[in-house]
Amino acid sequence: MIFPKATRVKNLPPYPFEVLGQRIKQLNANGPKPIIRMDVGSPDLPPPAVVIEKLAEVAARPDVHGYSTYRGAPVFRQALAKYYQNRFNVSLNPDKEILPLIGSKEGIVNLALATVNEGDIVLLPSLAYPAYIMSTMLAGADIHEMPITAENGYFPVFEDIPQDILKRAKLMWLSYPNNPTGAAVSFDKYEEAVRFCREHGILLGFDNPYPEIMYDGLKTAPSIMQVEGAMETAVEFTSLSKTYNMAGWRIGAMVGHAQIIDTLLLVKSNVDSGHFHAVYEAAAVALNETPQSWIDERNQRYEERRDKIIEALPNINLQLELHPAATLYIWAKVPNGDDIDYHNRTLEGARVSVTPGSFYGQDGKGYIRFSLGISDTDLDEALSRLREYWASQ
Ligand SMILES: Cc1ncc(COP(=O)(O)O)c(C=O)c1O
Repeated sequence: MIFPKATRVKNLPPYPFEVLGQRIKQLNANGPKPIIRMDVGSPDLPPPAVVIEKLAEVAARPDVHGYSTYRGAPVFRQALAKYYQNRFNVSLNPDKEILPLIGSKEGIVNLALATVNEGDIVLLPSLAYPAYIMSTMLAGADIHEMPITAENGYFPVFEDIPQDILKRAKLMWLSYPNNPTGAAVSFDKYEEAVRFCREHGILLGFDNPYPEIMYDGLKTAPSIMQVEGAMETAVEFTSLSKTYNMAGWRIGAMVGHAQIIDTLLLVKSNVDSGHFHAVYEAAAVALNETPQSWIDERNQRYEERRDKIIEALPNINLQLELHPAATLYIWAKVPNGDDIDYHNRTLEGARVSVTPGSFYGQDGKGYIRFSLGISDTDLDEALSRLREYWASQ
């Protein structure tokens, strides 16, 4: 029997990394050697040892196996409030201004369902994490893309948004340090975004999963909540996935505007039932007890990988587009402008998977994204395969 898809998902494209994962599985089943993945932004290294110890210790207790509360365990919310105070000098009320998420991706999608209607417009950057587009489609709203390119410093020109679009705009997505470009912007841009959204009554969804992955001696990128007035117009998505190498644990949070927190909780409490308590406790340890030296050493390793990839680019038919100061990514240009062709050729010819820029929108066409979440051994092998392949073309 064939069951038709609901109208709301009829035009929803499959998640690009799911499709790629299936293709790689097939190629691995038939091919000579396993494909090395430099596409997905998943850290290869483990979280701090104290975090795993805490998980095991709490999991061994008999009293932690029931449902948690829908707002999430206070121990996690209080730890996140302390982290925001220490890191950003931002005061958050752990009972009203913090909501744990099953990874920030879950919250991003549910925020659209909770706040936008058919006929509304969601403003999003022309290069963006795919969940902003997919959530808008699921909510039945319309998309208006704000170009972000090298020419405008990867930050939208808000004055270019037409007035009729602005009137219908309910939600804007921004994310810095940026995936996929690796671009970071100065604090006055954060202020500009808050000012603009307040002026036009737009909810600002600021996605901030990479504030601690910084290079060249830079420390912690800002939180949007540091901007005066942000609490009245913005929510920020934070995540332990990349900061503490906990992507598989699925824990993040939305912080900020208290009424939006309540609205998202209304949806979430009807959809999910939070986390296993041991995850909250271990995440609290990650947030409050990870030494800065652990973060610095991890970033040092990423920086070495970054430099190796950048050095290899001229030999693998790519040009560096932006020297990344942050994030897990390198954004490079394909000379003939065909990222899909480059991706297909390296995948099948070199057995290395890199991400086509088109995964992130039309302005990604002609670019390739590399992820640094790959072991040093795999990285050396992948670069040697890529060099050999492109030398033979
Ligand atoms: C910009 C951005 N936002 C959100 C996410 C989702 O992260 P999480 O693991 O917290 O769902 C990612 C993951 O790659 C990302 O790059």
